[in-house]
Amino acid sequence: MGKKVEIKEAKGKLGVLIPGMGAVTTTFIAGLESIRRGIYPAYGSVTQMQRIRLGKRTDGRNPLIKDILPLADLKDIVVGGWDVFPDDAYEAAKKAGVLTPEQLAQVEDYLRTIKPMKAVFDKRFVKKLDGPHVKKAETLADKAKMLEEDIERFKTENGVDRLVMIWCGSTEAYMETSDVHANLDKFEAGLKANDPAISSSMIYAYTALKNNIPYVNGAPHLSNDAPALFQLAKQNKLPTAGKDFKTGQTLMKTILAPGFKARMLGIDGWFSTNILGNRDGEVLDDPESFKSKEVSKLSVLDTILQPNTYPELYDNLYHKVRINYYPPRGDNKEGWDNIDIFGWMGRKMQIKIDFLCRDSILAAPIVLDLALLTDLAHRAGMSGIQEWLSFYFKSPLHAPEVYPEHDLFIQLTKLKNTMRYLMGEELITHLGMEYYNYFD
Ligand SMILES: NC(=O)c1ccc[n+]([C@@H]2O[C@H](COP(=O)([O-])OP(=O)(O)OC[C@H]3O[C@@H](n4cnc5c(N)ncnc54)[C@H](O)[C@@H]3O)[C@@H](O)[C@H]2O)c1
Repeated sequence: MGKKVEIKEAKGKLGVLIPGMGAVTTTFIAGLESIRRGIYPAYGSVTQMQRIRLGKRTDGRNPLIKDILPLADLKDIVVGGWDVFPDDAYEAAKKAGVLTPEQLAQVEDYLRTIKPMKAVFDKRFVKKLDGPHVKKAETLADKAKMLEEDIERFKTENGVDRLVMIWCGSTEAYMETSDVHANLDKFEAGLKANDPAISSSMIYAYTALKNNIPYVNGAPHLSNDAPALFQLAKQNKLPTAGKDFKTGQTLMKTILAPGFKARMLGIDGWFSTNILGNRDGEVLDDPESFKSKEVSKLSVLDTILQPNTYPELYDNLYHKVRINYYPPRGDNKEGWDNIDIFGWMGRKMQIKIDFLCRDSILAAPIVLDLALLTDLAHRAGMSGIQEWLSFYFKSPLHAPEVYPEHDLFIQLTKLKNTMRYLMGEELITHLGMEYYNYFD
């Protein structure tokens, strides 16, 4: 049985602050407003469209998740953000090229009202990007202070009661944590001393958590994934989650790989390659940014397939991931997978996937769900890494003593059982013994 958790009411407005107002963010904002105007259902959003079984199968209780969880109402969401380019959300969405001109025209008036604040940006972390709309200050600590002032202003101007921050900015160069990230004191000293190992996204994460705002990382780089920032989240009793939204090819991998493993089919090789021509693709054309993405994408198969437990099936798996920047395609990515599998008596088979994907269409509902669920977690008093939100990430953050859960279906069970737990409902094991008399 779950425990009925005391959850504060979702009173007033929820501010969703987003560093990076590119393809994902503008697709999210345009979609949110279209849903509010009744133009489209919230396709792809679990919180808005999915139902959850409560109690026994014979009880017939299957409400919409949004009808049982005390989530913020979509009409109470206010969006703000930062970018290194000053374009308003309409111009940025037009450049991103994800939505049709007709779709943008339906919400142009709203998109025009959302203008990014000046970014905290350091080109060392995103080599392929350069923009004029950036903050200038002596130290990183001063820049954090400026972000804090932005947040305060946003709060007052919009009459916002609660906030969450979700990183949808470009992928930064690959980096591992070092001494400056080891604890909060060292990190704060590093901000004052302009330590070169503090990236821009870490400054946003720090400022959010310092100001009692839950922080979510949609990109594969470190950002909130550092001991100093976990310490700050715990200290301020804030939920934090990441990293790298689960979309496109990796979503397919985490749908298919658990199926192969469930049927004890072996895999010799999995080759994934893509072409894409948007700004994200251009940023990932830099080997250092690509390394962050590659690490995130490669980790998935190992944890799902457990080659140490099933060496006969997966020990020799050759896994390769390629991303190729190809401008003519814009946001219309194409991803190919070739999977070499084997079965009974070692006979080999092949599976080919050609996914004509629109990543931002898959990412936008994730932004919505994460904003709502992180705000819920905050109101429910949940703090630290929110592993139950792994469902939404390619590289889920996890406690140091456990491996991350990548299997989409286990992640969904975990997500829904956490929802049941919060509402004091029975957890579902799928055992079902009560319906049969096996041992009579
Ligand atoms: N598209 C997807 O489905 C998907 C899936 C998983 C992860 N992601 C990640 O989400 C992020 C956004 O993807 P996108 O397709 O929208 O990319 P995008 O290039 O269209 O948008 C990123 C925006 O971030 C801005 N930016 C970069 N550094 C910034 C900073 N320090 N402060 C403020 N703004 C900054 C850029 O100017 C750009 O407008 C990327 O890191 C990407 O890897 C995207």
